[in-house]
Amino acid sequence: MEPAGVVRKTKDADRSTAYELTEAGRATQRDRVVASYDAVADRYAQEVGDELDDKPIDRALYACLAELVGAGAKVGDVGCGPGHVTKHLADLGLDVVGVDPSPGMIAVARRRYPRLAFRLASLTDLREEDGAWSGAVAPYSLIHLAPTERSAAYAELSRAIAPGGWLLVSFHVSTSDQPPGSVRHLDDWWGHNVDLDFHFLDPGDVETGLTAARFTTMSRTEREPWPDVEAQSRRCYLLARRQ
Ligand SMILES: C[S@@+](CC[C@H](N)C(=O)[O-])C[C@H]1O[C@@H](n2cnc3c(N)ncnc32)[C@H](O)[C@@H]1O
Repeated sequence: MEPAGVVRKTKDADRSTAYELTEAGRATQRDRVVASYDAVADRYAQEVGDELDDKPIDRALYACLAELVGAGAKVGDVGCGPGHVTKHLADLGLDVVGVDPSPGMIAVARRRYPRLAFRLASLTDLREEDGAWSGAVAPYSLIHLAPTERSAAYAELSRAIAPGGWLLVSFHVSTSDQPPGSVRHLDDWWGHNVDLDFHFLDPGDVETGLTAARFTTMSRTEREPWPDVEAQSRRCYLLARRQ
């Protein structure tokens, strides 16, 4: 008997069994992610909201994206959390909107940066016109999608970004005990009840998915974690151009 919210897929080739989320299962999973980020929103802002001060490589990549799209270009910060990347991109001269599916995160972002635009949306439903953005960043939001949802997210980013536009995605790759492709589950984060999966992603898999969605990778930056600044995971930043 399968758990609720999944369907069983039997593969003919090797007779093994895999499971895929049903639409109801996907909705339940999204609800859990949203409730979890609602619960930690204030604390996340305290812990992470000023992190860019200590992340020179990230700042360099955002500056690169800003130069590529040009001053005043309309861009999205997808999975904006408490809004610090949105603010950074606005300071670089971009016309930026921060989007996130967590109402708690959006409320915190609006409180911190009342002059900036924030709204509810998800990687799989950005609620933008086709080609509305000259570029987008998606820092550490892909990590909360089930593997079966990722291609829909790449396609949605491809739809919202105009041909010739730019995308910068970042994600966790591995830690000493979490290889690429593994999942870390948290049910407590800073003393709050959460129900959250963190997927460690293989950069080659993300690149393949983006290529299928009409992006061409321009640079792939992998780096080690900054000690005492952030979670101790190896990270990857893919900068890609919409064909
Ligand atoms: C690890 S936090 C990253 C926040 C911020 N981008 C940063 O770099 O600190 C993950 C964020 O992704 C958001 N998120 C989760 N699922 C998402 C989805 N399907 N689409 C867009 N954002 C999502 C969460 O609500 C949360 O704000």
